[in-house]
Amino acid sequence: DMESGSTGILHGKKVVVTAGGTIERIDPVRYITNDSSGKMGFAIAKAAKQLGADVHLIAAHTDEAPPEGIRAERVESAQDMYEAVQRVFDTSDIVVKAAAVADYRPAEAATSKIKKRGDTMTLDLVKTTDILESLGRQKTTQFLIGFAAETDTVEQFAREKLKRKNCDLIVANDVTQEGAGFGTDTNSVHIFDAEGLVLQLPVMSKEEVALRLLTLAAERLTGRLS
Ligand code: CTP
Ligand code: CA
Repeated sequence: DMESGSTGILHGKKVVVTAGGTIERIDPVRYITNDSSGKMGFAIAKAAKQLGADVHLIAAHTDEAPPEGIRAERVESAQDMYEAVQRVFDTSDIVVKAAAVADYRPAEAATSKIKKRGDTMTLDLVKTTDILESLGRQKTTQFLIGFAAETDTVEQFAREKLKRKNCDLIVANDVTQEGAGFGTDTNSVHIFDAEGLVLQLPVMSKEEVALRLLTLAAERLTGRLS
């Protein structure tokens, strides 16, 4: 049955999901982060479990409660997330990178609170590791799913990312569209592979998007193995 996942299409598969927005420390009381509710990633973790997978959720900042019965690991920064994913990548079948990873972090995190001084202040930032790009270079049999949240030129940016990061699928959402994007319970996505558009989903619950996405991944994974 679907509840226990014993006959689910992802039975026997290990699915790693990253979710939430990473936190990049400026000092002990301040940080840089991205808009991300974590809802999409959590919905994917739940859907994967429903489909019978062995799920490992790696979550950065989110207000969502950790889904029951799912192994959830908390991380803070992009670097923490990178290390957590690295530890499980070898044994994963599907990796879903729904997290909003900060692109830059402060060059140095101050160990004590930075005091207010002049009228302006400059923060030096350095690029974080691109986790997905790194996984794309390392992958052997893992099925990699990336996300691309865009405000314009959605298809072009999404397909460029898929290529650059060597993903099997990329889920693009136009965050300016009604009922899609941050904080909402619904989403509307376009899913691309290297050849182009694979699936276009109208506005639906994030749970439904998650099920459709993982069903597609499962079909492709099975097709590849047989
Ligand atoms: N990603 C990642 N590590 C980073 C940045 C992004 O793993 N340091 C992943 C995200 O989790 C997502 C995908 O890459 O699955 C695309 O993220 P996005 O921010 O849309 O793309 P970027 O390559 O960072 O490009 P930009 O922000 O300039 O659009
Ligand atoms: Ca980015």
